[in-house]
Amino acid sequence: MKSERVDAAQNGRVARRDFLRVAGLGGLILSTGGIAYFRNRTRHSASPGQELGSLDPREAGNFTNPLKVPAGEGLLGIFEPSAPFTITSKVTDYSFVQGKESKFWVYEVTQQGKTYQNPILKLPKGGRVQASYRNQLGAESIIHWHGLRVDTENDGHPHHAIPPSATYDYDFTVLNRAAAYWYHPHPHGQTAQQVYFGLAGFMLVEDEEEQAFARALDLEPGTTDIPLLLQDRLFNNNGAVVYTVSINDYFMGILGDVLLVNNTITPYLDVDTRFYRFRVLNGSNSRNYRLAFLKGSDRLPFFVVGNDGGLLDKPYPATEVTIATAERLDLLVDLRNLEPGDVIFLKTLGVDLGPMGKQMHGMHTTGFGSEVEFFILKLNVKNRVTYDKVLPGHLSEIAPLDPAGASTRPITLSNSGFTQWTINGKQFRMTEYPIMVNRDATEIWEIKNVITSMPHPMHIHGYPFQVLERIDSPRSVRAQAVDEKGLLPSDKGWKDTVLVWPGETLRYVIDFRHPFPGEQIYLFHCHILEHEDGGMMINYKVV
Ligand code: C2O
Ligand code: CU
Ligand code: CU
Repeated sequence: MKSERVDAAQNGRVARRDFLRVAGLGGLILSTGGIAYFRNRTRHSASPGQELGSLDPREAGNFTNPLKVPAGEGLLGIFEPSAPFTITSKVTDYSFVQGKESKFWVYEVTQQGKTYQNPILKLPKGGRVQASYRNQLGAESIIHWHGLRVDTENDGHPHHAIPPSATYDYDFTVLNRAAAYWYHPHPHGQTAQQVYFGLAGFMLVEDEEEQAFARALDLEPGTTDIPLLLQDRLFNNNGAVVYTVSINDYFMGILGDVLLVNNTITPYLDVDTRFYRFRVLNGSNSRNYRLAFLKGSDRLPFFVVGNDGGLLDKPYPATEVTIATAERLDLLVDLRNLEPGDVIFLKTLGVDLGPMGKQMHGMHTTGFGSEVEFFILKLNVKNRVTYDKVLPGHLSEIAPLDPAGASTRPITLSNSGFTQWTINGKQFRMTEYPIMVNRDATEIWEIKNVITSMPHPMHIHGYPFQVLERIDSPRSVRAQAVDEKGLLPSDKGWKDTVLVWPGETLRYVIDFRHPFPGEQIYLFHCHILEHEDGGMMINYKVV
């Protein structure tokens, strides 16, 4: 059995057949060679160290491309909707590699004579969003507003997916606090490839706390407050993104060997001697990054000031922090003690998955394994400037949810055979609701990753939660804990996605009260997109 190769060059008419063949694999693998398949490795993209050349993120000397930062219009333009707007998903061309063209799937918005691709949607808390989604892909799709508290009709559940040329109208109010949320497609079985080919964007929600913070540190979007969208990819030798799905990559999640940061390969950013804010969104299909700032081989301390649900109660000093797929981190780095001419790298350190994890990762046919270290962004210190702002000791008010009296819901992450990941033994069925929640309830979800092979970034639609405790964490995770409950700085505050490590049990609390009339249907799933498409997802209903 050969692995399937899906090329973005098919003008959006991407092989859904191929995908379903893989997605619906179930027991098929056992009848077509089973385990032997895993040893039969094939490579499609540039092999690590051989053909990557100037695209290789392990080579510091390659970081010569100016980072794409948000601008007035165009790709990653900041779009502040002032009226109802139309957002269209379509296939365009883009030059990721100089002199070469790739297909690039984008969301496009045109308003007041300006056109934006994958715009950074800037929304005030309490604002109304009236968006008409037009699907001009060759495949069905729907937009999900990841992290937003919206009713079921506006959530972009896969049962709302629309066919090519159809339109879906959204109308909701932004109830969330300020934070970096994001939007991406959510059609069942096709989310992974649609995100991979480019469909994803930031949503920056603003409120007064957030504005006060930006003022206190004199932060300006696009110059000193920089969104960083991290996406690892596989490219073919023609400079085009290819989505390569072998059965084992599908099981393990696809990993690339080229990194896009705001769609830029091997980027640099010129900086001055002051504070910089990086709002990191891990938009990768499956890779986790262990972020650190380095000057030579020395780690530069930084602060974790926010995550999925916005600012934390206070800045947490750190020298490394892990960001899983779909998570967001708000990092503040102090460059005041540096000199013009200094160079800093934002880097990912290798993620250690333990002996079993390593064995599993040996199954990858493409891309860098999670243990591979590479550079993300080069910071060139240019000018000495005077900067007299002071980092506030208190950032935001986090009212703790009260877990007293809440019932505990046990959730088990496991797998059946070598093909399917499961949640409480279930795989996704469009019209099955394995979890029913009372609309007045507060619940503790106790998620146990019983398989000691892979961490799973678990995401819930509809509600943010607060992490209570990490139990039996791997030693490398426990070493980063900032309290006796084993929480990491990135677990503080409000979350919508959280990484559950092999062997670990993680407890979080959710308040299911909501203002929407009637029953609400939402999803709970692993955000490794190949796992999600492969069925590591369940519906839950709030009644
Ligand atoms: Cu970001 Cu259901 O996903
Ligand atoms: Cu979501
Ligand atoms: Cu998973």
